Amino acid sequence: MADLPTGFWSGWIIVITTVSLGFLLWLAISVYFSSDADKQSEAQTETVWDSDLREGSNAPPMWWFWMLLATLVFSLVYLMLFPGLGSYPGLLNWSQGSRVAASYESFEERFADVRAEIASTSLAAIQNDVDLMQVAERIFRRECAACHGPDARGQASLFPNLVDVEWQWGSSAEQIEQTIRGGRSANMLAWQAIIGDENVDQVADYIMQLGDSVSESHPGKQVFDQNCSACHGVDGTGNILLGAPSLVDDIWLYGSDLKTVKASIASGRNGIMPAFGERLDDVQVKLLVAMLAR
Ligand code: HEC
Ligand code: HEC
Repeated sequence: MADLPTGFWSGWIIVITTVSLGFLLWLAISVYFSSDADKQSEAQTETVWDSDLREGSNAPPMWWFWMLLATLVFSLVYLMLFPGLGSYPGLLNWSQGSRVAASYESFEERFADVRAEIASTSLAAIQNDVDLMQVAERIFRRECAACHGPDARGQASLFPNLVDVEWQWGSSAEQIEQTIRGGRSANMLAWQAIIGDENVDQVADYIMQLGDSVSESHPGKQVFDQNCSACHGVDGTGNILLGAPSLVDDIWLYGSDLKTVKASIASGRNGIMPAFGERLDDVQVKLLVAMLAR
């Protein structure tokens, strides 16, 4: 009832409801009782139709009255106990909201022990518990699969694969937990305007060969050392503090072909992993960490 627009309407509803209930009561009583006096006189002036059809004025049977009274009393009691009179919540304070709250409380009570147990269980033990891992997978499908895919293998050129060996933001349980709770936002500049087209081409070619044997005299190396090594590391293996991925392996978040790598360099990339610290509770986060950390 809290969503009734204004106290004004609520007041009107209360007035109209009580006035109509009072009117009904008055009507019933007046039909049954107060007309007794004039019954006599009415009987004398009774109209007679077709010589023997009388228009009687007998009051309806008494049980009708009691039934009416009972329904009126029922309405009154109901309106006192439950919401119905404007925004008055009723003596029982019943509402769909409080019912949900109550059922949530009993849910919490039922599972409080299980949750406390999970909270104190080691990650390794959770990982070995088939049932708990299934719960974790359900949470993942509900919260994360839209981006990372139902099997956590990511989606090409948008969302990272979470079951491969490369971890942009770190692979330890603590780092993964931090990623989930606080989210991550990667900041890779658009280099085209800074270093020019030619250097973009050269450095792209250079990092494509990183990890294989690339010549020290590759013209892209100088560009890399000057502009990229601060984040991606002198050897190109990345920096988990900045979320700068390793460029020496064959794993590419945004695509492995030369054209895509050039596009990453030229226009920059700003991947954002949303924060789930508010949305998920400690136990849910722990289950997800157990699922992803190895
Ligand atoms: C709206 C899409 C979206 C959702 C939903 C999402 N993520 Fe992410 N996640 C991303 C993106 C984008 C990145 C990559 C950020 C970057 O570029 O650094 C990421 C990165 C990550 C990483 C870091 C990977 C690495 O290599 O370090 C982890 C771990 C992760 N997500 C876990 C999760 C979990 C667990 C959930 C569910 C609770 C989830 N994500 C839900 C978009 C999403
Ligand atoms: C300020 C730190 C920083 C600097 C400097 C920087 N990068 Fe990055 N780079 C990042 C981050 C962070 C990402 C991840 C972006 C994301 O996840 O959305 C990234 C991503 C990339 C990618 C995409 C990798 C993939 O897996 O798809 C390429 C390619 C790249 N950088 C190349 C370069 C080159 C070449 C330079 C030098 C011209 C450079 N970066 C300089 C931080 C940096």
